[in-house]
Amino acid sequence: MMTGKKIHLYWFSGSGNTLRVARTLTEELRLQGVEVQLRPIENFEPKFFDSNAVLGLAFPTHFFTLPIIVRDFVTKLPNVHGTPAFMLTTAGMVSGGVHGPLKRLLSRKGFHCVGTRQLMMPDSYFAFIHGRIAERMIVRAERNVRKFADRLLSGQTDWRRVPVLSDLIAAVGSWCFARRNLFKTRRYPVVYAKEKKCVKCNICRKFCPVDALTDSGGKPPQPTLQCTLCLRCVAVCPNNAMRLCFMGLPPYRALTSGKLTSVIRQTLRESDVFRETE
Ligand SMILES: Cc1cc2nc3c(=O)[nH]c(=O)nc-3n(C[C@H](O)[C@H](O)[C@H](O)COP(=O)(O)O)c2cc1C
Ligand code: SF4
Ligand code: SF4
Repeated sequence: MMTGKKIHLYWFSGSGNTLRVARTLTEELRLQGVEVQLRPIENFEPKFFDSNAVLGLAFPTHFFTLPIIVRDFVTKLPNVHGTPAFMLTTAGMVSGGVHGPLKRLLSRKGFHCVGTRQLMMPDSYFAFIHGRIAERMIVRAERNVRKFADRLLSGQTDWRRVPVLSDLIAAVGSWCFARRNLFKTRRYPVVYAKEKKCVKCNICRKFCPVDALTDSGGKPPQPTLQCTLCLRCVAVCPNNAMRLCFMGLPPYRALTSGKLTSVIRQTLRESDVFRETE
């Protein structure tokens, strides 16, 4: 099914888990002779969408379902006639509202949904896992994604959807996000920069995928209502100044902040059809 086709793998990642497995998948597919381009969802321009390429999607689970930025991206896709699509999602604990609703959205647009894989990775929200244990989980996920590449190329994957239940779970997740008061986190915004630690370098602003951080003239950046809670700003902050207002756990990132920013920059540069963030 994928033979002779090129793949455009559209990715989104907050703290780097998904970016790491998306890069591993790309590497594995290229090793097997497939032409793959990694494309960042955050810089997507609908006019550059190419329906002759297989659509790959890689993203984290947010509140049991798709992150808002991914849902918006899929909604903007044009209608196609049977373009194959596959999905790779990462999760810290449980999801349930990802596969079904996404399959429904894609099928309505005419995509042929050929395969999914969910990978368990350290949770970026409940950031209890760090260091060597986190790295071991990531390495296991990278191993599993290589197996997924093999199965995808040999046509052994499928994409099932549990109707109603998965839509219900997604609706609950979206409600939780909209309310922003899940787990008694009533304060808004839910990420904030610690005044004493912030050196006003603006790295968090540059890497926020939805331009949600304010430039408050010499003060630490503050999130606006656009914030989708992806935690990218928390992960890229070199001083651990940006934090999630929840349980005071240390920030989670799949790579050091310097490495994470350079990998994101490199991926943005490689996909030449997108606007540069800098
Ligand atoms: C706002 C938010 C909500 C999340 N909700 C879920 C969830 O409902 N279920 C789950 O298993 N993991 C959840 N997670 C954890 C992430 O899906 C997981 O850690 C993922 O690998 C992070 O990927 P990233 O580093 O590419 O952003 C959530 C993370 C964030 C930031
Ligand atoms: S990246 Fe960190 S230190 Fe730099 S401006 Fe943002 S919060 Fe402050
Ligand atoms: S401000 Fe919100 S949307 Fe922007 S990087 Fe931070 S968590 Fe993500």
